[in-house]
Amino acid sequence: MAEVYDGAVDKGLEGVIACTTGVSSIVDATLCYRGYLIEDLAKNSSFEEVVYLLWNDRMPSATELKTFSDTLRSGMKLDPAFVQQLKGLPTEGVHPMAWLRTAVSAAALWDSDSQSMEQADLEQVALRLTAKVGPMVALFERFRQGKDYVEGNPEKSFAWNFLYMLKGEEPDAEMVDVFDTCLILHADHELNCSAFSARVTASSLSDVYSAVTSAIGALKGPLHGGANEQVMRMLIDIGTVEKAQEWIKNALANKEKVMGFGHRVYKNGDPRAKILRSMSESLCKKAGTAYYDMSKVIDDTVQSEKGLLPNVDFYSASVYYSMGIPLDLYTPIFATSRVSGWLAHIFEQYSKNRIYRPRGEWVGKEGLKYTPIAER
Ligand code: COA
Repeated sequence: MAEVYDGAVDKGLEGVIACTTGVSSIVDATLCYRGYLIEDLAKNSSFEEVVYLLWNDRMPSATELKTFSDTLRSGMKLDPAFVQQLKGLPTEGVHPMAWLRTAVSAAALWDSDSQSMEQADLEQVALRLTAKVGPMVALFERFRQGKDYVEGNPEKSFAWNFLYMLKGEEPDAEMVDVFDTCLILHADHELNCSAFSARVTASSLSDVYSAVTSAIGALKGPLHGGANEQVMRMLIDIGTVEKAQEWIKNALANKEKVMGFGHRVYKNGDPRAKILRSMSESLCKKAGTAYYDMSKVIDDTVQSEKGLLPNVDFYSASVYYSMGIPLDLYTPIFATSRVSGWLAHIFEQYSKNRIYRPRGEWVGKEGLKYTPIAER
């Protein structure tokens, strides 16, 4: 159970229960999507099935899953006119999350249902948007490399298509499995900062694209989804396993935050980090890099020095690195998956909406009188 709000302000709404939700739950160190344990879903499900679950509050039948997956994967195709417009956006010196924020916002202009609040239209918009965020991320990378858009294959999985559209070559089956698990692990996470942003925007009854664009802005920050990229930069900066312990001790002594550690809700460990840790171990060993060993030393050091445990962003960094994914795409990949959770939250918000309008406690000056500018 979350702590009861004690009336204190400026604490990042710690312990405040802002709404009821049936999308995902965190109790102690247990995460569930719609009542299903994350460990169970990561082992047995697929991203497509998890998206269906998040949106429908139940598992699909085989026929339902096939229809849903086919629609989602077909939706990954980007409109040539839209691709052409995106080509006009700068990529040099541009962070892909900033580019993605613009691209998703612009995508609304190509979607004739984007302003509709009809249930059937909302469902189509959700499918289109979830299908297209990944291909947009892949497109950014291809444009940045001076390459062209690659069309996917709707017969293949969502994970396969993303990796194919990113690299332009058929991905290895093991990498597809790993990536699918990463997508599942990142799909939703109760009332995190970006889901809350999405819900706040949706609560004014603004459209889905506006709510998702708000969420992308929130996810971008290094205290939220931006941490995974910073973790990898730290690992590269440290350089060797031998230097890891001292580097971390110095950082903590200088009151620096070690990215990928700590969590507002989990105090006994993030279950996603445990799954990602074993994936990192096997992938780093296979790739012949020291990043898992280095991560383990950092993990042990932060735990013993500060009592903090790794969160989802810590071991996902070395997983993505082992897959040959560019560092600044780690957070956009987070968005590729999390858009499904944001949409579940947006729909939940619409279904029982009241506008979010909290109060601020006044701590400013009082009783001032206007003085004409010549007398100041
Ligand atoms: N490294 C070092 N110290 C950390 C830390 C970290 N990653 N995370 C928290 N702390 C420390 C804080 O400095 C604070 O210490 P103090 O009491 O001496 O001031 C204490 O632990 C409590 O942390 P706080 O910042 O109040 O936690 P929060 O609930 O406000 O923030 C995070 C949660 C996740 C934003 C925070 O832990 C963080 O910044 N982590 C690094 C970024 C990250 O990995 N984000 C991804 C989250 S999934």
